[in-house]
Amino acid sequence: MKVTDKHPRIIVALDYPAREPALKLVSQLDPQLCRLKVGKEMFTRLGPAFVELLAAKGFQVFLDLKFHDIPNTVAAACEAAADLGVWMINLHASGGSRMMDAARDRLEQRASRPLLVAVTILTSLAEADLAEIGYSGSPEENVLRLARLTQTAGLDGIVCSPLEAAAVRAGLGADFLLVTPGVRPGSAALNDQKRVMTPLAALRGGADMLVIGRPVTAAANPRESLQAIEAEIARFV
Ligand code: C5P
Repeated sequence: MKVTDKHPRIIVALDYPAREPALKLVSQLDPQLCRLKVGKEMFTRLGPAFVELLAAKGFQVFLDLKFHDIPNTVAAACEAAADLGVWMINLHASGGSRMMDAARDRLEQRASRPLLVAVTILTSLAEADLAEIGYSGSPEENVLRLARLTQTAGLDGIVCSPLEAAAVRAGLGADFLLVTPGVRPGSAALNDQKRVMTPLAALRGGADMLVIGRPVTAAANPRESLQAIEAEIARFV
């Protein structure tokens, strides 16, 4: 991925239960200022046509479906996602290196392909939750281990907490994409996020792209909110 491709760095999380409010928000956004993330809820309700509609409006889409299955199934799902013309897709690193290899291999057979990133450890999991599923060590140790596995499998990067970004950046080098949710501008409400960083602090800590939902989607003026965040991070880039 070329450095210039990191712009725009903001990915707006479109978390809506229906098409109309999502499209109303999208009509107030600009593909020059942000990309869009479509997750399991919207995709399950609205399907591929909705993703294609966003792409037709000029937006680059991160299809956040976090695939985790046998290698052949995940590779086929990645190919189906790539056929929608999305910009980025993801899977769970805990599916293992054979699963990640199969997905990357399948995408590399295409003339153009989406970026492929991995979820390492869900930030909702604390050390006790990891122990319950048989993982020893802290969340950060596990994130680093799975990030290394992801990098060895030749994927483009990972999704991680902004609080883990500095350790991952230090351990995995500059040429590895770090996408971080859990970002809140200083003036914004925390909502249900607890461990957050400001957009500028996240970038300074090593993040490349910022997933931001409610600070934009729930703002009285989403476009102004996005422009204010852009102005804040312009000091970094
Ligand atoms: O509204 P908010 O900015 O909290 O939205 C963040 C988006 O990133 C949501 O779509 C959420 O599901 C996702 N996400 C997250 N924390 C993670 C992983 C994903 O908030 N650790």
